[in-house]
Amino acid sequence: MPDVLVTRRMVDAAMSALTGLGEVDVYEGPPTAIPRAELLTRVAGVRGLLALLTERVDAELLDAAGPSLRIVANHAVGVDNIDIAECTRRGVLVTNTPDVLTEATADLAWALILACVRRIAEGDRFLRTATPWIWDPRMMLGHDLYGRVIGIVGCGRIGQATARRALGFGMRVVYHNSRPLPPEVAGPLGATWRSFDDLIAESDVVSVHCPLTPSTRHLFDAAAFARMKPTAVLVNTARGPVVDELALAKALRAGEIFAAGLDVFEREPEVEAELLDLDAVTMVPHLGSATVGTREAMGLRAVQNLAAGLAGARPRDLLNP
Ligand code: DGY
Repeated sequence: MPDVLVTRRMVDAAMSALTGLGEVDVYEGPPTAIPRAELLTRVAGVRGLLALLTERVDAELLDAAGPSLRIVANHAVGVDNIDIAECTRRGVLVTNTPDVLTEATADLAWALILACVRRIAEGDRFLRTATPWIWDPRMMLGHDLYGRVIGIVGCGRIGQATARRALGFGMRVVYHNSRPLPPEVAGPLGATWRSFDDLIAESDVVSVHCPLTPSTRHLFDAAAFARMKPTAVLVNTARGPVVDELALAKALRAGEIFAAGLDVFEREPEVEAELLDLDAVTMVPHLGSATVGTREAMGLRAVQNLAAGLAGARPRDLLNP
Protein backbone atom coordinates (compact mmCIF):
# COMPACT_ATOMS: atom_id res chain seq x y z
CA MET A 1 0.00 0.00 0.00
CA PRO A 2 1.48 3.43 -0.95
CA ASP A 3 2.49 5.87 1.81
CA VAL A 4 1.81 8.98 -0.27
CA LEU A 5 -0.63 9.89 -3.03
CA VAL A 6 0.33 12.71 -5.42
CA THR A 7 -2.69 13.77 -7.44
CA ARG A 8 -0.81 15.00 -10.52
CA ARG A 9 2.82 14.82 -11.71
CA MET A 10 4.79 17.89 -10.62
CA VAL A 11 7.91 19.37 -12.24
CA ASP A 12 10.95 17.07 -12.17
CA ALA A 13 12.76 18.68 -9.25
CA ALA A 14 9.70 18.29 -7.04
CA MET A 15 9.13 14.69 -8.14
CA SER A 16 12.77 13.87 -7.32
CA ALA A 17 12.36 15.42 -3.87
CA LEU A 18 9.74 12.76 -3.05
CA THR A 19 12.53 10.15 -2.82
CA GLY A 20 12.74 8.76 0.68
CA LEU A 21 9.10 9.38 1.56
CA GLY A 22 8.15 5.74 1.11
CA GLU A 23 6.07 4.30 -1.69
CA VAL A 24 4.58 7.11 -3.76
CA ASP A 25 1.51 6.71 -5.97
CA VAL A 26 1.27 9.41 -8.68
CA TYR A 27 -1.84 10.10 -10.75
CA GLU A 28 -0.67 10.72 -14.31
CA GLY A 29 -2.98 13.55 -15.45
CA PRO A 30 -3.62 15.88 -17.28
CA PRO A 31 -5.74 16.49 -19.33
CA THR A 32 -8.17 15.72 -16.53
CA ALA A 33 -7.90 15.86 -12.78
CA ILE A 34 -8.00 12.52 -11.02
CA PRO A 35 -11.64 11.37 -11.17
CA ARG A 36 -13.31 11.63 -7.77
CA ALA A 37 -14.09 7.91 -7.48
CA GLU A 38 -10.49 7.04 -8.33
CA LEU A 39 -9.20 9.59 -5.83
CA LEU A 40 -11.36 8.09 -3.08
CA THR A 41 -10.04 4.62 -3.89
CA ARG A 42 -6.37 5.54 -4.23
CA VAL A 43 -6.27 7.69 -1.08
CA ALA A 44 -7.27 4.75 1.15
CA GLY A 45 -4.60 4.03 3.73
CA VAL A 46 -2.06 6.68 2.69
CA ARG A 47 -0.19 8.75 5.31
CA GLY A 48 0.29 11.79 3.12
CA LEU A 49 -1.70 13.42 0.34
CA LEU A 50 -0.07 15.94 -1.99
CA ALA A 51 -3.10 17.61 -3.53
CA LEU A 52 -3.76 20.27 -6.13
CA LEU A 53 -6.42 22.96 -6.17
CA THR A 54 -8.60 20.64 -8.29
CA GLU A 55 -9.04 18.08 -5.50
CA ARG A 56 -11.77 18.63 -2.92
CA VAL A 57 -10.53 17.54 0.48
CA ASP A 58 -13.63 17.12 2.62
CA ALA A 59 -15.18 14.70 5.12
CA GLU A 60 -15.91 12.18 2.36
CA LEU A 61 -12.27 12.12 1.27
CA LEU A 62 -11.01 11.97 4.85
CA ASP A 63 -13.33 9.01 5.51
CA ALA A 64 -11.98 7.30 2.40
CA ALA A 65 -8.38 7.94 3.47
CA GLY A 66 -8.96 6.57 6.96
CA PRO A 67 -7.06 7.17 10.19
CA SER A 68 -3.60 6.72 8.67
CA LEU A 69 -3.74 10.16 6.98
CA ARG A 70 -1.41 12.63 8.75
CA ILE A 71 -1.03 15.48 6.27
CA VAL A 72 -2.58 17.13 3.23
CA ALA A 73 0.05 19.26 1.49
CA ASN A 74 -1.62 21.54 -1.04
CA HIS A 75 0.42 22.48 -4.11
CA ALA A 76 -1.10 26.00 -4.07
CA VAL A 77 -1.37 29.00 -1.82
CA GLY A 78 -5.18 29.00 -2.08
CA VAL A 79 -6.86 26.38 0.07
CA ASP A 80 -10.55 26.84 -0.74
CA ASN A 81 -10.50 23.20 -1.94
CA ILE A 82 -9.79 21.99 1.61
CA ASP A 83 -12.11 21.79 4.60
CA ILE A 84 -9.46 22.82 7.11
CA ALA A 85 -11.84 22.67 10.08
CA GLU A 86 -12.72 19.06 9.30
CA CYS A 87 -9.04 18.16 8.86
CA THR A 88 -8.22 19.80 12.18
CA ARG A 89 -11.04 17.94 13.93
CA ARG A 90 -9.48 14.68 12.73
CA GLY A 91 -5.91 15.67 13.54
CA VAL A 92 -4.87 15.93 9.86
CA LEU A 93 -2.29 18.63 9.12
CA VAL A 94 -2.91 21.02 6.21
CA THR A 95 -0.26 23.10 4.46
CA ASN A 96 -0.05 25.41 1.43
CA THR A 97 2.74 27.07 -0.60
CA PRO A 98 2.73 30.79 0.27
CA ASP A 99 5.30 33.43 -0.78
CA VAL A 100 6.92 31.49 -3.63
CA LEU A 101 4.27 32.43 -6.20
CA THR A 102 3.66 36.01 -5.11
CA GLU A 103 5.79 37.81 -7.72
CA ALA A 104 4.86 35.53 -10.64
CA THR A 105 1.16 35.98 -9.93
CA ALA A 106 1.51 39.75 -9.64
CA ASP A 107 3.33 39.75 -13.00
CA LEU A 108 0.46 37.82 -14.58
CA ALA A 109 -2.07 40.24 -13.09
CA TRP A 110 -0.14 43.03 -14.80
CA ALA A 111 0.03 41.12 -18.07
CA LEU A 112 -3.76 40.99 -18.01
CA ILE A 113 -4.15 44.62 -16.93
CA LEU A 114 -2.01 45.80 -19.84
CA ALA A 115 -3.69 43.42 -22.26
CA CYS A 116 -7.10 44.78 -21.23
CA VAL A 117 -6.38 48.51 -21.23
CA ARG A 118 -4.45 48.36 -24.52
CA ARG A 119 -6.56 45.68 -26.27
CA ILE A 120 -3.55 43.42 -26.89
CA ALA A 121 -5.35 40.11 -27.39
CA GLU A 122 -8.00 41.78 -29.54
CA GLY A 123 -5.29 43.35 -31.73
CA ASP A 124 -3.49 40.03 -32.05
CA ARG A 125 -6.72 38.23 -33.03
CA PHE A 126 -7.53 40.98 -35.52
CA LEU A 127 -4.20 40.73 -37.34
CA ARG A 128 -4.53 36.96 -37.67
CA THR A 129 -7.74 37.47 -39.67
CA ALA A 130 -5.69 39.28 -42.36
CA THR A 131 -8.37 41.99 -42.51
CA PRO A 132 -7.08 45.06 -44.44
CA TRP A 133 -6.15 47.94 -42.09
CA ILE A 134 -4.26 51.20 -41.98
CA TRP A 135 -3.02 53.30 -39.06
CA ASP A 136 -6.03 55.28 -38.00
CA PRO A 137 -6.36 57.93 -35.27
CA ARG A 138 -9.47 56.14 -34.00
CA MET A 139 -8.34 52.56 -34.25
CA MET A 140 -8.60 50.25 -31.21
CA LEU A 141 -8.35 52.94 -28.59
CA GLY A 142 -7.65 51.81 -25.07
CA HIS A 143 -7.14 53.76 -21.84
CA ASP A 144 -4.23 55.38 -20.03
CA LEU A 145 -2.86 54.05 -16.77
CA TYR A 146 -0.65 56.99 -15.75
CA GLY A 147 -2.36 59.10 -13.12
CA ARG A 148 -5.27 56.65 -12.79
CA VAL A 149 -6.42 54.60 -9.80
CA ILE A 150 -5.87 50.88 -9.23
CA GLY A 151 -8.13 49.20 -6.69
CA ILE A 152 -6.77 46.05 -5.05
CA VAL A 153 -9.43 43.77 -3.63
CA GLY A 154 -7.62 41.59 -1.11
CA CYS A 155 -4.33 43.32 -0.37
CA GLY A 156 -2.33 40.40 1.03
CA ARG A 157 1.03 39.28 -0.33
CA ILE A 158 -0.02 39.08 -4.01
CA GLY A 159 -2.23 42.17 -3.82
CA GLN A 160 0.65 44.16 -2.34
CA ALA A 161 3.06 42.92 -5.04
CA THR A 162 0.53 44.00 -7.69
CA ALA A 163 0.17 47.39 -6.00
CA ARG A 164 3.97 47.84 -5.91
CA ARG A 165 4.12 47.41 -9.68
CA ALA A 166 1.36 50.02 -10.09
CA LEU A 167 3.64 52.67 -8.61
CA GLY A 168 5.97 52.20 -11.59
CA PHE A 169 3.05 53.00 -13.89
CA GLY A 170 2.33 56.23 -12.00
CA MET A 171 -0.94 54.97 -10.57
CA ARG A 172 -2.54 55.73 -7.21
CA VAL A 173 -3.41 52.68 -5.08
CA VAL A 174 -6.59 52.09 -3.11
CA TYR A 175 -7.36 48.73 -1.53
CA HIS A 176 -10.06 46.82 0.25
CA ASN A 177 -9.34 44.31 3.03
CA SER A 178 -11.48 43.36 6.00
CA ARG A 179 -8.94 45.25 8.11
CA PRO A 180 -6.72 48.16 7.04
CA LEU A 181 -3.05 47.34 6.49
CA PRO A 182 -0.52 48.43 9.11
CA PRO A 183 0.96 51.87 8.25
CA GLU A 184 4.42 50.37 7.59
CA VAL A 185 2.89 48.26 4.78
CA ALA A 186 0.35 50.74 3.38
CA GLY A 187 2.74 53.73 3.61
CA PRO A 188 5.36 52.70 1.00
CA LEU A 189 2.53 51.73 -1.38
CA GLY A 190 0.76 55.04 -0.83
CA ALA A 191 -2.27 52.77 -0.43
CA THR A 192 -5.53 53.99 1.06
CA TRP A 193 -8.26 51.72 2.45
CA ARG A 194 -11.71 51.96 0.87
CA SER A 195 -15.00 50.18 1.44
CA PHE A 196 -15.66 47.68 -1.35
CA ASP A 197 -18.41 49.87 -2.85
CA ASP A 198 -16.23 52.97 -2.83
CA LEU A 199 -13.26 51.10 -4.29
CA ILE A 200 -15.11 49.74 -7.30
CA ALA A 201 -16.70 53.11 -8.02
CA GLU A 202 -13.37 54.98 -7.87
CA SER A 203 -10.99 52.56 -9.60
CA ASP A 204 -9.93 52.55 -13.24
CA VAL A 205 -8.39 49.11 -12.78
CA VAL A 206 -9.75 46.61 -10.25
CA SER A 207 -7.45 43.67 -9.51
CA VAL A 208 -8.84 40.77 -7.49
CA HIS A 209 -6.56 38.98 -5.01
CA CYS A 210 -8.89 37.88 -2.21
CA PRO A 211 -9.36 34.24 -1.22
CA LEU A 212 -12.56 32.44 -2.15
CA THR A 213 -14.79 32.22 0.94
CA PRO A 214 -18.57 32.25 1.40
CA SER A 215 -18.40 36.03 1.70
CA THR A 216 -16.36 36.59 -1.47
CA ARG A 217 -18.32 34.20 -3.74
CA HIS A 218 -19.91 36.40 -6.45
CA LEU A 219 -18.52 39.52 -4.80
CA PHE A 220 -18.49 40.87 -8.35
CA ASP A 221 -22.14 40.57 -9.35
CA ALA A 222 -24.51 42.66 -11.45
CA ALA A 223 -24.79 45.31 -8.72
CA ALA A 224 -21.00 45.62 -8.46
CA PHE A 225 -20.56 46.02 -12.23
CA ALA A 226 -23.27 48.70 -12.26
CA ARG A 227 -21.20 50.72 -9.77
CA MET A 228 -17.96 50.50 -11.77
CA LYS A 229 -16.76 53.07 -14.32
CA PRO A 230 -17.61 52.35 -17.97
CA THR A 231 -13.88 52.72 -18.67
CA ALA A 232 -12.81 50.35 -15.89
CA VAL A 233 -11.13 46.99 -16.30
CA LEU A 234 -11.50 44.03 -13.96
CA VAL A 235 -8.69 41.49 -13.62
CA ASN A 236 -9.09 38.26 -11.66
CA THR A 237 -6.06 36.13 -10.82
CA ALA A 238 -7.53 34.85 -7.53
CA ARG A 239 -10.41 32.39 -7.77
CA GLY A 240 -13.09 32.21 -10.46
CA PRO A 241 -16.22 32.09 -8.31
CA VAL A 242 -15.42 35.54 -6.87
CA VAL A 243 -16.84 36.81 -10.18
CA ASP A 244 -20.34 36.03 -11.45
CA GLU A 245 -19.33 35.28 -15.05
CA LEU A 246 -22.81 35.64 -16.54
CA ALA A 247 -23.21 39.03 -14.87
CA LEU A 248 -19.75 39.97 -16.15
CA ALA A 249 -20.66 39.05 -19.73
CA LYS A 250 -23.86 41.12 -19.48
CA ALA A 251 -21.98 44.09 -18.01
CA LEU A 252 -19.41 43.98 -20.83
CA ARG A 253 -22.10 43.75 -23.50
CA ALA A 254 -23.96 46.66 -21.90
CA GLY A 255 -20.77 48.77 -21.74
CA GLU A 256 -20.94 48.98 -17.95
CA ILE A 257 -17.21 48.21 -17.81
CA PHE A 258 -14.55 48.36 -20.51
CA ALA A 259 -12.78 45.00 -20.32
CA ALA A 260 -11.94 42.00 -18.18
CA GLY A 261 -8.83 39.85 -17.81
CA LEU A 262 -9.40 36.39 -16.42
CA ASP A 263 -6.85 33.83 -15.25
CA VAL A 264 -9.42 31.84 -13.25
CA PHE A 265 -12.97 30.71 -13.95
CA GLU A 266 -16.16 30.16 -12.05
CA ARG A 267 -16.52 26.50 -13.11
CA GLU A 268 -12.87 25.89 -13.97
CA PRO A 269 -11.75 24.38 -16.31
CA GLU A 270 -15.03 25.22 -18.10
CA VAL A 271 -15.21 28.74 -19.51
CA GLU A 272 -18.60 30.46 -19.58
CA ALA A 273 -19.80 30.37 -23.21
CA GLU A 274 -21.13 33.95 -22.96
CA LEU A 275 -17.56 35.21 -22.56
CA LEU A 276 -16.10 33.50 -25.60
CA ASP A 277 -17.20 35.92 -28.31
CA LEU A 278 -16.39 39.06 -26.34
CA ASP A 279 -13.33 40.91 -27.64
CA ALA A 280 -13.19 42.81 -24.37
CA VAL A 281 -12.24 39.64 -22.48
CA THR A 282 -8.65 38.41 -22.32
CA MET A 283 -8.32 34.94 -20.88
CA VAL A 284 -5.50 32.59 -19.93
CA PRO A 285 -5.82 29.10 -18.42
CA HIS A 286 -4.92 29.69 -14.73
CA LEU A 287 -1.29 30.62 -15.44
CA GLY A 288 -0.67 32.95 -12.47
CA SER A 289 2.11 30.82 -11.02
CA ALA A 290 3.13 29.18 -14.30
CA THR A 291 6.83 29.96 -14.54
CA VAL A 292 9.60 27.37 -14.46
CA GLY A 293 11.11 28.81 -11.29
CA THR A 294 7.83 29.31 -9.46
CA ARG A 295 6.41 25.88 -10.19
CA GLU A 296 9.69 24.33 -9.03
CA ALA A 297 9.56 26.37 -5.83
CA MET A 298 5.89 25.48 -5.24
CA GLY A 299 6.49 21.78 -5.79
CA LEU A 300 9.54 21.71 -3.52
CA ARG A 301 7.71 23.63 -0.82
CA ALA A 302 4.76 21.23 -0.95
CA VAL A 303 7.12 18.24 -0.70
CA GLN A 304 9.03 19.82 2.22
CA ASN A 305 5.77 20.34 4.06
CA LEU A 306 4.68 16.78 3.30
CA ALA A 307 8.00 15.35 4.51
CA ALA A 308 7.85 17.32 7.75
CA GLY A 309 4.30 16.16 8.45
CA LEU A 310 5.18 12.53 7.75
CA ALA A 311 8.20 12.78 10.04
CA GLY A 312 6.07 14.08 12.90
CA ALA A 313 7.63 17.57 12.70
CA ARG A 314 5.79 20.87 12.37
CA PRO A 315 5.56 21.78 8.65
CA ARG A 316 6.69 25.29 7.77
CA ASP A 317 3.36 26.27 6.20
CA LEU A 318 0.98 24.71 8.68
CA LEU A 319 -2.54 26.14 8.39
CA ASN A 320 -4.46 24.36 11.15
CA PRO A 321 -5.28 26.75 13.98
C1 DGY B 1 -2.62 29.05 -6.04
O1 DGY B 1 -1.51 28.64 -5.67
O2 DGY B 1 -3.57 29.15 -5.29
C2 DGY B 1 -2.72 29.44 -7.45
O3 DGY B 1 -4.01 29.69 -7.86
C3 DGY B 1 -2.04 28.44 -8.35
O4 DGY B 1 -1.47 29.19 -9.37
